[in-house]
Amino acid sequence: MSDAEKTQALEIDIKDLKVAFGDFYALNGVSFFAYKKEFLGIIGASGAGKTTVLRVLTGQVGPTSGQAFVGGFDVTKKSDLISLLVGYVPQLEHLSLYYDFTALQNAEFFGRCFGLRPKEIEKRARNILTILGFDEELMTKAVKRLSGGERKRVSICLGMIHDPPVLLLDEPTTGLDAHLRHETLNYLKELNYELGTTMVIISHDLEIVDYCTRVCLLEDGLISQFGTPEELISTLPGKGESLRIVLPKITTGIMNQVMSLPGVEYVAAAGRNAVKLFIDDPDKQILPIIKMLNQRGIPFEEISLVESDFFDYFQVKPWKDNGGGESTP
Ligand SMILES: Nc1ncnc2c1ncn2[C@@H]1O[C@H](COP(=O)(O)OP(=O)(O)O)[C@@H](O)[C@H]1O
Ligand SMILES: [Mg+2]
Repeated sequence: MSDAEKTQALEIDIKDLKVAFGDFYALNGVSFFAYKKEFLGIIGASGAGKTTVLRVLTGQVGPTSGQAFVGGFDVTKKSDLISLLVGYVPQLEHLSLYYDFTALQNAEFFGRCFGLRPKEIEKRARNILTILGFDEELMTKAVKRLSGGERKRVSICLGMIHDPPVLLLDEPTTGLDAHLRHETLNYLKELNYELGTTMVIISHDLEIVDYCTRVCLLEDGLISQFGTPEELISTLPGKGESLRIVLPKITTGIMNQVMSLPGVEYVAAAGRNAVKLFIDDPDKQILPIIKMLNQRGIPFEEISLVESDFFDYFQVKPWKDNGGGESTP
């Protein structure tokens, strides 16, 4: 792809973005992009700057320096257009939904704000809500009588009512139980697939990664990693593969022995009686490792080559939480 073609295919392009509140830089030089129809995840701990990114993309906060483009337009120069290009699903839906209105009535209210005709709004809302798993009964029930997951879906529908090419979602899965988090993500994937909407979803939870085509890891206003899930995993020793060893039991002594095997860069727990060894060229190392385990008298039940997933990635790269785990110089 030439540079010109790449620029055309980009839906979101953020270049060295800085946002300061007084002396404090909430974003300190952030760059990333998303092609049209991507499902981009921005992941970071609380306070990392995730919401600030979305506020820049919706024109609510101006960059201190750097640039942000949506659909090729500079968000600071085309603010009227940007509200048509992006839909926004806020973190707390009770701040945006009318609880006495039904889903369809909420849609009509929000759609009118964009100057849409009631017939057009209803057709569109029904289409989106159907993809989101709503039947006639759910569409016409007061929002206050819907469950948490259903309300979240209504607020997703409102964010998309004006057919924006980009939907920004601020922590859409936070506060839902595990089943509803995956359900919500599956519905978002479905909308992404059916309507071709580019999704930008922010989360403090790693479990969204498996749904994403590309991921940004945001730490203290800086991007620590940006790439496809596969690219991030390929930066692990073993490039996405590791050796899984099932042991009769795990003791500190055995763990120390396993960790001291030559070439082993990291050992992660992998279930009750199993560990994963991160090692360069794990498929070539499998026989030498078996030999060494035998030589050192470390009993094991099974050893196999397995794929690494995102949980492994973050075990190897420990996740900083809210200023915790700061290293001392
Ligand atoms: N209007 C503001 N004034 C001052 N500080 C702010 C403002 N908005 C956000 N911040 C600070 O910027 C940092 C990033 O905030 P935010 O983007 O909301 O983080 P996240 O969404 O990742 O939790 C936080 O330390 C927050 O306190
Ligand atoms: Mg936030």
